[in-house]
Amino acid sequence: MQKKLIFFYCFIGFSLVSANGDSFLPNVELSALLSIKSSLIDPLDHLKDWENSTDEHCNWTGISCNSKGLVEKLDLSNMSLSGIVSDNIQDLRNLSILNICCNNFASSLPKSLANLTSLKSIDASSNNFVGKFPIGLGMIPGLISINASSNNFEGLLPEDIGNSISLESLDFRGSFFEGSIPPSFGNLKKLRFLGLSGNNLTGRLATELGQLSSLETMILGYNQFEGSIPGEFGYLTNLQYLDLAVGSVPEKLGELAKLKVLELWKNSLTGPLPENLGKNSPLHWLDVSSNSLSGEIPSGLCDSGNLTKLILFNNSFSGSIPIGLSNCSSLVRVRIQNNLISGSIPIGFGNLPILQRLELANNNLTGEIPEDFSLSASLSFIDVSQNHLVSALPSSILSIPNLQMFISSSNNLEGKIPDQFQDCPSLSVLDLSSNHFSGQIPQSIASCEKLVTLNLRNNQFTGEIPKTIATMPTLAILDLSNNSLVGRIPQNFGSSPALESFNVSYNKLVGPIPNNGILITINPNDLVGNAGLCDGILPPCSQNIIHTARQRKVRINHIVVGFLVGISVILAIGMLVFTGRRLYKQWYMNENCFVNLFKKNNSEWPWRLVAFQRFNFTSADILACLKESNVIGIGGTGIVYKAETHRPHNVVAVKKSRRTMLHKNETVSMVAGSYGYIAPEYGYTLKIGEKSDIYSFGVVLLELLTGKMPLDPAFGESIDIVEWVRRKGHRKTLKEALDPDIVGKCIYVEEEMLLVLKIALLCTAKLPKDRPSMRDIITMLGEAKPRRKSISHNWGFTANKEKIFANSPVIGLL
Ligand SMILES: *[C@@H]1O[C@H](CO)[C@@H](O)[C@H](O)[C@H]1NC(C)=O
Ligand SMILES: *[C@@H]1O[C@H](CO)[C@@H](O)[C@H](O)[C@H]1NC(C)=O
Ligand SMILES: *[C@@H]1O[C@H](CO)[C@@H](O)[C@H](O)[C@H]1NC(C)=O
Ligand SMILES: *[C@@H]1O[C@H](CO)[C@@H](O)[C@H](O)[C@H]1NC(C)=O
Ligand SMILES: *[C@@H]1O[C@H](CO)[C@@H](O)[C@H](O)[C@H]1NC(C)=O
Ligand SMILES: *[C@@H]1O[C@H](CO)[C@@H](O)[C@H](O)[C@H]1NC(C)=O
Ligand SMILES: *[C@@H]1O[C@H](CO)[C@@H](O)[C@H](O)[C@H]1NC(C)=O
Ligand SMILES: *[C@@H]1O[C@H](CO)[C@@H](O)[C@H](O)[C@H]1NC(C)=O
Ligand SMILES: *[C@@H]1O[C@H](CO)[C@@H](O)[C@H](O)[C@H]1NC(C)=O
Ligand SMILES: *[C@@H]1O[C@H](CO)[C@@H](O)[C@H](O)[C@H]1NC(C)=O
Ligand SMILES: *[C@@H]1O[C@H](CO)[C@@H](O)[C@H](O)[C@H]1NC(C)=O
Ligand SMILES: *[C@@H]1O[C@H](CO)[C@@H](O)[C@H](O)[C@H]1NC(C)=O
Repeated sequence: MQKKLIFFYCFIGFSLVSANGDSFLPNVELSALLSIKSSLIDPLDHLKDWENSTDEHCNWTGISCNSKGLVEKLDLSNMSLSGIVSDNIQDLRNLSILNICCNNFASSLPKSLANLTSLKSIDASSNNFVGKFPIGLGMIPGLISINASSNNFEGLLPEDIGNSISLESLDFRGSFFEGSIPPSFGNLKKLRFLGLSGNNLTGRLATELGQLSSLETMILGYNQFEGSIPGEFGYLTNLQYLDLAVGSVPEKLGELAKLKVLELWKNSLTGPLPENLGKNSPLHWLDVSSNSLSGEIPSGLCDSGNLTKLILFNNSFSGSIPIGLSNCSSLVRVRIQNNLISGSIPIGFGNLPILQRLELANNNLTGEIPEDFSLSASLSFIDVSQNHLVSALPSSILSIPNLQMFISSSNNLEGKIPDQFQDCPSLSVLDLSSNHFSGQIPQSIASCEKLVTLNLRNNQFTGEIPKTIATMPTLAILDLSNNSLVGRIPQNFGSSPALESFNVSYNKLVGPIPNNGILITINPNDLVGNAGLCDGILPPCSQNIIHTARQRKVRINHIVVGFLVGISVILAIGMLVFTGRRLYKQWYMNENCFVNLFKKNNSEWPWRLVAFQRFNFTSADILACLKESNVIGIGGTGIVYKAETHRPHNVVAVKKSRRTMLHKNETVSMVAGSYGYIAPEYGYTLKIGEKSDIYSFGVVLLELLTGKMPLDPAFGESIDIVEWVRRKGHRKTLKEALDPDIVGKCIYVEEEMLLVLKIALLCTAKLPKDRPSMRDIITMLGEAKPRRKSISHNWGFTANKEKIFANSPVIGLL
């Protein structure tokens, strides 16, 4: 090392002495580049053409030279590089653009960068650089841009950057910088972009920032600043985008009249919004949600006609909705829920051409739902629940072509449901619960082919339950409870294609409960309060009303107890399986890396199950279930089936080994024993719900993921699958644990399987208290598919992992 340095210093010295130097400099640079390469780790061999054999280094990957043959640009971005950025970089004396972003560097940035006096732009973003950001870059006179975002820098922000007066863009977002913003930053008169969000910055916001007269974008959110927003920010005449989201900025908001974007959500702001906000500026976005703001909504927010997002929810705004919003044709989202807004909903929202979301829930609104809502061609989400609205529904409101959700629960609405359902092309959620609606439920509601949830509870509906509802192809949740419905439950409800939850409690229904489909397994609570119902899970229909009533009560109590034992388990597993379905479908059924999944519709999920509680069923019951349509999971070691028995209702997961096909008797002994592991070679049943069962679930996941048996002899003496995978994890070779037969097919599958493998490891933690809850598991499984979210538009998520996983228990896994 010492030798090397001496060698290079000699070289530099020599070249400086020589006439004008330039003809020797390329050799210095060649050596410098080779030295830089030698301290890099380049797993994909991107820099394979960097070798001493050719002296035409200007042609090497990532390098551009100027007319003198000196390196001007070094672009090593996105090459999976790690190791050290060598001090020899300072020998590239004409280097003006340095881009090492998007690699895996986990070292510190060299101080010698400060010797690169020709630098104009440095991008070290999206690495894991540690330590302090090097001091000295402030001495480089022509520096225009620094991007150091998404790293692990710590310590104070480099104060000397304030001397780089030509700087136009400074991005230090997403590290662990602490301390306060150096007042010297106020010198950066040419700065247009300042990003410091997502650090550990504290203290008051420097008033000097008010001198950044060119500043257009200031992103400071997700820090721990204190104090108010300095009044000096009012001088930021070019500021268009201010993001101070999620902090503790208390007190008042100053005049910020020139803004296009104001993101101040989740602070501690109190008091009113500036009265003139939007009056003199082309305000595009305003998000001040989740503060403690009060007063009226400023009337001029849309005076310029540019407002698209108005997000005020979760505050204490009062007064009425400004009339000026109801002709603001640029609006796309209006989210004002959870405030104290009173008065009526102004006429005009239905005429706004691109308004999609209108959320006014949980305010103090009175009056009617305006007729003009029905005219909208753009609204997809309307939530006016928890107000004091009166009146009937506008006659064609449910036929708005793009309307997906209409929620008007907990108001004083009345009248009939308009019988105009010929055309409700998009409606998936209709919630009219807790109002005073009356009349019959229209037959024509069944023409809403996309309806998933229909909630009409707590109203005064009369007449019979329309038979047609049972034929709706996607209806999963139907709540008709607490009405005055009469007649029988139509025979076809049991066979409704998608129905999962059916609540008709507290009506005036009579007659036998159809003995088919979900009605066999329905929770008795969903039937109570109908004195005339009988049969099915209720006592048989009989003349002796008093007798049956008493008997029914006993019976119901009995069943309710059973359900209390089992229902939460069943629900949890149901959700889990719903998630699992997707997951496993992706891995095993779809070899084309998910893309096709979103093309083919409605093909059968491989998952279909639930859970169980007791074991009093016969071998025939179980064997009858081991058929194709009951498959709930397919993995390396076998197939998991749902086995369901009736009276009493049990659902179990039965695993059948792929290697050893089961004999009848083996299956039965396995099932009849207990849950957990019974002769793993042959399969086992699985019970989930308590922490101890989470362990079993984790083991099943491990088996499916690794393609190994729980006690594979290859693991070695007294090592089970959990220990085997755990050891891989300690040696950072977790990937090797995955079943090569599955992983080989698609790189995204590997990434996803690794995430689930980590979830499985959490589930199999040694101490029960360290295992996640079923709820967490469901969340994690649901989110452990980062790629898929980016592939399909249908998911509506971005590819940004951090965003997706923020607030999720899975975040710790990444
Ligand atoms: C490059 O090769 C030349 C001779 O071919 C040698 O003198 C020089 O030391 C080499 N430089 C490096 C950095 O290996
Ligand atoms: C190397 O770059 C020079 C210009 O810098 C070009 O003339 C020459 O063709 C390139 N050689 C190769 C082998 O690419
Ligand atoms: C990084 O490189 C990979 C392939 O090496 C490519 O797929 C990806 O698009 C690149 N990303 C960027 C931001 O250039
Ligand atoms: C390039 O390097 C030479 C020699 O060090 C120096 O004289 C010249 O000013 C540099 N050019 C630029 C644009 O920095
Ligand atoms: C910058 O270069 C000078 C000599 O040219 C050297 O003495 C100094 O140590 C270098 N600075 C850094 C931070 O490497
Ligand atoms: C800094 O780099 C990241 C990518 O690494 C990019 O997303 C961000 O936009 C850049 N910042 C600026 C100000 O361009
Ligand atoms: C930085 O903030 C995070 C969370 O905001 C906290 O966990 C961490 O301890 C802080 N680090 C320092 C050095 O203050
Ligand atoms: C509303 O604000 C409260 C605290 O002010 C917070 O706990 C809650 O999560 C917020 N709700 C939403 C929907 O953001
Ligand atoms: C909305 O209408 C009011 C008067 O009714 C008018 O003053 C205002 O300029 C209009 N706003 C827009 C954005 O058209
Ligand atoms: C604001 O909207 C008007 C039209 O209403 C448009 O002419 C103007 O360009 C927009 N301003 C900005 C900054 O987008
Ligand atoms: C709701 O509005 C009524 C008048 O319309 C008013 O009397 C009542 O105080 C308001 N409630 C709240 C919580 O603001
Ligand atoms: C149904 O309404 C009754 C009062 O009419 C109320 O006590 C009960 O809580 C309601 N049930 C449900 C499930 O909302």
